[in-house]
Amino acid sequence: MTAVELIGVTKEYESGDRRVTALDDINVTVDEGEFVSVIGPSGSGKSTMLNLIGLLDRPTSGRVVVGGVDATDMSESRRTEKRGEVIGFVFQDFYLLPNLTAEENVRMPTAFNKSRVDSGRARELLGRVGLGDRVDHYPNELSGGQKQRVAIARSLINSPEVLLTDEPTGNLDLDTSERILGEISKVRETGVSVIAVTHDPMVEEYADRTVELVDGRLSDSRSDTARVGGEP
Ligand SMILES: Nc1ncnc2c1ncn2[C@@H]1O[C@H](COP(=O)(O)OP(=O)(O)OP(=O)(O)O)[C@@H](O)[C@H]1O
Ligand SMILES: [Mg+2]
Repeated sequence: MTAVELIGVTKEYESGDRRVTALDDINVTVDEGEFVSVIGPSGSGKSTMLNLIGLLDRPTSGRVVVGGVDATDMSESRRTEKRGEVIGFVFQDFYLLPNLTAEENVRMPTAFNKSRVDSGRARELLGRVGLGDRVDHYPNELSGGQKQRVAIARSLINSPEVLLTDEPTGNLDLDTSERILGEISKVRETGVSVIAVTHDPMVEEYADRTVELVDGRLSDSRSDTARVGGEP
């Protein structure tokens, strides 16, 4: 089944009297359980693409289908609901809350759930990213890579269908990167799709395929691995 579909998506930003085309008519399909890495130079539209898939932003034109549902014209409240059900995020800057412990940060996205998630699951996820002995630490008591791993555990707490990560291994040493990529590969086995923006060749190794953005367009330079809609 298709987990994510971008159909003819264009995103333009207006700033002052200048208009920036961040994404220019792109087509992308990601299957359930597929791991896609997204590469490309700074400013090429990678984060813009994640924000659209994560329903944090709307396209200027084109359609965004997530979890089998076209979310393009959904109301803001429906999108928020859908985002909570379907999407897990690991942002470039983690956004951990400083006055919550690692465990409380991981549990945070469940605050609005109808059924409460107990701390056991948060602890289990922290264990899986190698932080079983840091659950009661506050963010300022954690290293950069440890914070990143808390953010990864947090992204999985609501069992998302689609996991979006911006530089998932950006702050990690080789061993920890491998561990995290191993964990990401494991969640994929349960049908979770992963879209990872990265500059790290190791992420590409773990991914099923890589798509490359250049100036807001999907580049053909890797068409051997990129299955990009609209191509013959
Ligand atoms: N809110 C905004 N207003 C105006 N222009 C924006 C906005 N957000 C992004 N842009 C522009 O859109 C283009 C794509 O930005 P984006 O953040 O998607 O790039 P990126 O590929 O993630 O880059 P990086 O690797 O540096 O994170 C850039 O030229 C950027 O300046
Ligand atoms: Mg970016």
